[in-house]
Amino acid sequence: MNILAINGSPKRNGTCSTILNALVDRLSAPHNKITQYNLNSLNIHGCQECFYCRNKKTDICAYKDDISEILEMAKKTDIMIISTPVFYSDISAQLKCFIDRTWSYYGITGTSANHLKRNRTLVFILSYGYNNSGIYDQLYEKYKVYFNMFGFDNCYLIKAYGAQYYKTEIINNNEVSDMIDFVSDKICN
Ligand SMILES: Cc1cc2nc3c(=O)[nH]c(=O)nc-3n(C[C@H](O)[C@H](O)[C@H](O)COP(=O)(O)O)c2cc1C
Repeated sequence: MNILAINGSPKRNGTCSTILNALVDRLSAPHNKITQYNLNSLNIHGCQECFYCRNKKTDICAYKDDISEILEMAKKTDIMIISTPVFYSDISAQLKCFIDRTWSYYGITGTSANHLKRNRTLVFILSYGYNNSGIYDQLYEKYKVYFNMFGFDNCYLIKAYGAQYYKTEIINNNEVSDMIDFVSDKICN
């Protein structure tokens, strides 16, 4: 299986990357090809609204930066793992750059992305400071709609709450570990 793992946190060693790396470790096997990106280390930009994809009826984004390669990989990958901290009740700006650029996936028809591979898996990792389990579930629900359209029919949320930057522990660590077990079992079986 091809696995694409994207860390959307500016921190290389924060909560998001800790959970993402733990899941990646669980999925490491000779038959899995894992590619990892730290968006914050890359030259990334959001959608430029050039409408090249719409005008040319292509799913290739005309704007060339480090997101170009990730966009192509995300079209084909079997599993995508995305992690983001919650910043001002939303995903990180780094991850938003990537998600906005997936607008090119709709370029062929202008409305759908049905040509992309179906029955794929998305794992969405959220980390945030509030010690409230459900407060940002709507973020996952919101973005899941788009990833469903891109063929990620099987979606899972792993969330670390109460994960303030000045604390090192993950408050719901057991829940996070259980979800990592659950998701990796689902993916591997
Ligand atoms: C700019 C900024 C905005 C934040 N906004 C929120 C917020 O709206 N809600 C929240 O619960 N935590 C918020 N936080 C806390 C982070 O979501 C939290 O520390 C997260 O666990 C960081 O994950 P990381 O270590 O993987 O980067 C914010 C932190 C920063 C730096």
